[in-house]
Amino acid sequence: MSATIKDVALLAGVSTTTVSHVLNKTRFVAPATRERVLKAANELHYAPSAVARSLKVKTTKSLGMLVTTTLNPFFAEVVKEVERQCYQQGYTLVLCNTDGELEKTNAYLMMLAQKRVDGILVMCSEYDDSLFSAVIGKRDLPMVVMDWGPSGDYVDRIQDNSVKGAHLAVQHLVEQGHEAIAYIGGPLEKLPARQRYDGFLEAMHEAGLPVVPEWIIESNFEFEGGKLGMRRLLTSPALPSAVFIGNDAMAMGAMSEAQLSGVSIPETLSVVGYDNCFYSAYLTPPLTTIDQPKRRLAEQAVASMIERIDNPRQNGRLIMLEPDLVIRSSVKTMARC
Ligand code: RIB
Repeated sequence: MSATIKDVALLAGVSTTTVSHVLNKTRFVAPATRERVLKAANELHYAPSAVARSLKVKTTKSLGMLVTTTLNPFFAEVVKEVERQCYQQGYTLVLCNTDGELEKTNAYLMMLAQKRVDGILVMCSEYDDSLFSAVIGKRDLPMVVMDWGPSGDYVDRIQDNSVKGAHLAVQHLVEQGHEAIAYIGGPLEKLPARQRYDGFLEAMHEAGLPVVPEWIIESNFEFEGGKLGMRRLLTSPALPSAVFIGNDAMAMGAMSEAQLSGVSIPETLSVVGYDNCFYSAYLTPPLTTIDQPKRRLAEQAVASMIERIDNPRQNGRLIMLEPDLVIRSSVKTMARC
């Protein structure tokens, strides 16, 4: 007959609660005790029945995550950190790529609820408010929204302070002597894109610089969108000396298009991006950008989720994370006239 949690506790000389905490990593246990429990579980070939555990404590120790994945590595970097946090907290992560499709988002939401995940992390744009409130609200299913997405009374939202990040980017260009500054941004129906545009306008106004309509281009946060945005910018009657671009993926596409068109960076055109994705340091020239604290975003999201699992009806919070300027070599210092 297979060993039970009581057998393990007896052999290790501890309570069944201690065995549970050690195996589920739900509480700190002194290393010596932890070793005794793991040794006993190993000797008895103990494998707790996940179903039995979930039925007993009404938890599956699993979290769902809805994420908009495109070819944009920003999402992959955040997911990697979320997965690491889940593992450290003893949770498995069920990752659902919505590809920005509403139907897929809704289907995954229903699937996660049926799988009885303990909570849902959301980092995506498309969502159906009524379905979210039906699935989340009815089941008291804890939800934490990362970056941007649905809101609710009992939903924690963790967001980058994108207004400040954009302000830092433009302020840096102004401090380097640029006065003719363009903007290629994300889709304005998405909150981070609106906030970065607001931060751009705020910093330009503060510096007393003109916002030239031909140099304001709304794109789609994708590599190709940056390329097409730069192609459009290069057709304007006069070139700016610098451009702030709303994320690193678009910045990479824009830089490629500029260089293929014979525009040298930063000699002719300076560029600042946003996200500080891992590849931005390897571009030619390495990209000056705004660092979104991806690890802190993941740590805060999982920590908030675990708190919310214990207290689903805790009022929702808005937690802002502060971005930083990362200076590399894609911005030229202009000669002071
Ligand atoms: O790069 C993708 C962008 O979309 C990031 O800046 C992030 O904020 C997400 O909203």
